Amino acid sequence: MIAMEMIRQHFAVNYAYSVYFTADLFRRDNTLLSDIIRQDGQAGAKKILAIVDDGVAASHPELNAAISLYSAAYPETLSLVCEPLIIPGGENAKNDPSLLARIQEAVNTFGLCRHSFIMAIGGGALLDMVGYAAATVHRGIRLIRVPTTVLAQNDTGVGVKNAVNAYYKKNFLGTFAPPYVVLNASEFLRTLNQRDWLAGAAEAIKVALVKDPEFFEFLERSAEAIVKRDMPTMQNLIRRCAELHLNHIATCGEPFERGTSRPLDFGHWAAHKLEQLSNYSVPLSIWIRVLGLYKISFR
Ligand SMILES: NC(=O)c1ccc[n+]([C@@H]2O[C@H](COP(=O)([O-])OP(=O)(O)OC[C@H]3O[C@@H](n4cnc5c(N)ncnc54)[C@H](O)[C@@H]3O)[C@@H](O)[C@H]2O)c1
Repeated sequence: MIAMEMIRQHFAVNYAYSVYFTADLFRRDNTLLSDIIRQDGQAGAKKILAIVDDGVAASHPELNAAISLYSAAYPETLSLVCEPLIIPGGENAKNDPSLLARIQEAVNTFGLCRHSFIMAIGGGALLDMVGYAAATVHRGIRLIRVPTTVLAQNDTGVGVKNAVNAYYKKNFLGTFAPPYVVLNASEFLRTLNQRDWLAGAAEAIKVALVKDPEFFEFLERSAEAIVKRDMPTMQNLIRRCAELHLNHIATCGEPFERGTSRPLDFGHWAAHKLEQLSNYSVPLSIWIRVLGLYKISFR
């Protein structure tokens, strides 16, 4: 008879994070960011490494100076370790391993520890890559996400996944690691091109079809306002879509997707492949929404 012993390990980890909706995030009199960091519990100013998507930096040339001035205005809570790093955004952020290495190197150079913060400001691709860096250096540094596209504010930025592409495979290296906080600031949306403005709205249509008929009716009624870039309508769309994503993650029973893939992931598998085959010229956000809507309508 073969002897066998077992010690069974079991513990539960509780996650909580907030998604804020604000405007003029880095205006000196907007205390939100400073308040959040102050409430972290540890005394003294926290080190922050800020990473900015180059598409955002180009469209918001005042941003880097505003972040530095904001940090200087709250020296008791914030200590910016260097000028915000400007990193190429879009899918290249996830395809180029040297960009990930730049962030790891900065964490080392500026001596960030597990009580420090990395703040990622950008589209979904940059957030995915910086999130992966933050989750892996020191086995996890607090991540502040500041999503700057519609899709990033209503989907990528509010969820628990981070990743980079490798071996010609989308999201091949990644983590499930919730952010410390998400700060959705409306001023960034104004500079999106029409494609990126609408790609995030398509995500909302998919989520509404799966989860919330009333939200779908709101989207139908608001179609023209969305296309004409009415900001309050878009903010309502983002808020409800983000809320449905958050509810889904919290209540689906498998926030880290160990079992079947989540119902909201209609079309993802094929979309990832098509995006890669098109050499990322047609983005995932478009493929997923087209395939997802196709799949929903033929269920
Ligand atoms: N982790 C997740 O759960 C999750 C969910 C959905 C999508 N994603 C990922 O998100 C990525 C797509 O993200 P996306 O749709 O936000 O696009 P993106 O990050 O590829 O950005 C698109 C372009 O917009 C620019 N940009 C970003 N914000 C801007 C602004 N405010 N003004 C002007 N230009 C701006 C970027 O520089 C880039 O050139 C994909 O890599 C996808 O895999 C991840």
